[in-house]
Amino acid sequence: MRLVSKHMKKTDGVESYFNGKAKTYDNYFGLLYFQVHNQITWRHIEPYLPTDPNALILDACGGTGRWSIHMARKGCRVVLLDISEKMLEKAEKRIKRESLQNRIIIKREDITKTSYPDETFDMILCELALLFFENPDTLLKELNRVLKRGGRLIISAPNRYVQSLVALPEKPNLSDMENALDILLRKKYGTMPENTKVKIYTWTPDEFRKMLERNGFSVEKIVGKATTMPLRISKELFTKKGGSKSLYNKILHFELALCEKPDALALADDLQAIARKPLG
Ligand SMILES: C[S@@+](CC[C@H](N)C(=O)[O-])C[C@H]1O[C@@H](n2cnc3c(N)ncnc32)[C@H](O)[C@@H]1O
Repeated sequence: MRLVSKHMKKTDGVESYFNGKAKTYDNYFGLLYFQVHNQITWRHIEPYLPTDPNALILDACGGTGRWSIHMARKGCRVVLLDISEKMLEKAEKRIKRESLQNRIIIKREDITKTSYPDETFDMILCELALLFFENPDTLLKELNRVLKRGGRLIISAPNRYVQSLVALPEKPNLSDMENALDILLRKKYGTMPENTKVKIYTWTPDEFRKMLERNGFSVEKIVGKATTMPLRISKELFTKKGGSKSLYNKILHFELALCEKPDALALADDLQAIARKPLG
């Protein structure tokens, strides 16, 4: 089923960026980096899926539907919500191919002002999207509003510590050092590689936790995703497709040994929080 909201705002930079990216977007997930990243993501989604067959999950900024499809395959009912028409067209095709139309509703809306009543959803996933929000509180407030009390929010954010370290080459000069320092001190934002108008916002693990708390969530845990990459493994290797299965298994083993260690969080490229909207 396809729904378009009356509350749509005008096309902005992020929406047109993803309209342009939609065709090739899913190709990223064949890279070694994302194969490992996806494993850790799913291992920290699957155990939290609601068991009630009537429960409803919001895949907030769900893009081409990769996580909606995973969740629907497990029997869940999902609303896949995104602002990009082209990303959703891609999703619609995949959902039809998998005959999951009866479990996934596609909704084109701005996530900061959805048309859903308070406390509609039993769980919310927001993966790889918070980074595009200059004012993340508007997004988190809306997610908190539409989540049922006791329901979980699973959300990821890029780690500024790692983003600043990655900006440093092995032999930095003065301007490399200034650039990395500006990222660390938040004087400068990252941008998407193909479109420097699309800004990327980052948080330290502590800022991420506090931001969730001030928007009404209690954080159960934060896991680190991709700790060996990109800090320790060369870009040539982690942007490779396919590659050696045994090397992949060892990298995954290493990542899994680190991802739940709170004192290793500062080293992780991405942070994934599992948070709850308190009951009372
Ligand atoms: C990097 S993609 C992530 C897609 C999906 N969650 C995944 O893990 O593959 C970010 C998505 O956020 C969507 N998005 C950005 N701003 C949005 C907004 N204000 N409302 C709804 N969707 C938005 C984009 O259209 C894009 O599909």
